[in-house]
Amino acid sequence: MKAVIVRDLGEPDVLSWEDRPVPEPGRGEVLVRVTATSVNFADIKARRGQYHGAGKPPFIPGLDAAGIIEKMGPGVESLTTGMRVAVFPKGGSYAEYVVADQMLVYPLPDAISWEAAAALPTVGFTAYTLLTQVGQLTPGESILIHAAAGGVGTTAVQLARLLGANRVIGTVSRPDKRAAVEAMGAEVIEYGDGHFSDAVNDMTNGRGVDVVLDSIGGSVSEESLHCLAHFGRLVHFGSASGQPGHIRVSDLHASCRSARGYSLGTARVERPQSIAPTARAVLELAAEKRLVMQIGRHYPLAEAAEAHRWMESRDSIGKIILDVNNPGLKVGAPPVNR
Ligand SMILES: NC(=O)c1ccc[n+]([C@@H]2O[C@H](COP(=O)([O-])OP(=O)(O)OC[C@H]3O[C@@H](n4cnc5c(N)ncnc54)[C@H](OP(=O)(O)O)[C@@H]3O)[C@@H](O)[C@H]2O)c1
Repeated sequence: MKAVIVRDLGEPDVLSWEDRPVPEPGRGEVLVRVTATSVNFADIKARRGQYHGAGKPPFIPGLDAAGIIEKMGPGVESLTTGMRVAVFPKGGSYAEYVVADQMLVYPLPDAISWEAAAALPTVGFTAYTLLTQVGQLTPGESILIHAAAGGVGTTAVQLARLLGANRVIGTVSRPDKRAAVEAMGAEVIEYGDGHFSDAVNDMTNGRGVDVVLDSIGGSVSEESLHCLAHFGRLVHFGSASGQPGHIRVSDLHASCRSARGYSLGTARVERPQSIAPTARAVLELAAEKRLVMQIGRHYPLAEAAEAHRWMESRDSIGKIILDVNNPGLKVGAPPVNR
């Protein structure tokens, strides 16, 4: 099979297009012929050697994929060959075939397209968990979502609305991202100068928001506390800036606020069964078209390096799909939306 390999850590040109043996499913595992996979920011971090869940080169990058079960290992229950599924594979997802543990395989309703299925697992399950379990957003509350035009961002904005948030505010770095976020149902702050808390406080009559979804770190995490209401929850789940943010515990107790963290990568490894109820809820919302995955661009898998450059440019909006054996698109055909 063909696969994208991270040969060395570094810039996108370390990604090479190579032949690899098709993996064999072991006990409790299935082999999936991949139709499409997606680019997640964690793939960029893994390629740079900055992701906590990645191995050492050479490795296949990628977290999630959609495809068809082609073979089953012993001891697999409730799954069959020919089934359309979304998966978190054991190795990386940038490949024509992947093996996944049955606990991390999610059968797809017919109404979900291949591109939506490939876009959805990491950002959809993460956003839903951040909002419900970690941020504990309740109807009528307000939320600030950083990087709102991105994969997690466009998904979290829609889910926050569906969960009954009364006010959803998204930050973006560039004016051309504004329309996409507004279309999802959020008010938008352009934080081109790096500052946003005064604008949030003005928009909330000085109260601040009940929940902040922070995937940026550094000064963005720190400034988020300046616009977090009493009893509010700061949810930190990524460090796109590459910088750690520093929080003083004395800024928490008197205001009854808390700072919480979450990693789907850690949950996948340590509590894989915890993801199934979230997956059911999110797949149902997508099948009903109440959650519509925002797809910015498609690239053929062989052009993964180009796709990484596009995400790192900070110009990308929504998800980036890598087409593998997508029946809707010939592999190697010119990508759409470019
Ligand atoms: N904890 C988890 O389980 C989990 C799961 C999925 C994703 N994440 C995290 O969630 C974030 C979003 O992931 P995604 O895959 O959906 O990516 P994405 O949001 O589509 O792309 C990343 C976005 O981060 C923003 N950003 C801010 N500072 C940046 C910088 N220095 N370099 C590049 N981008 C920067 C950019 O938006 P603006 O330019 O508009 O600011 C950029 O578009 C990432 O931090 C990722 O690691 C965490």
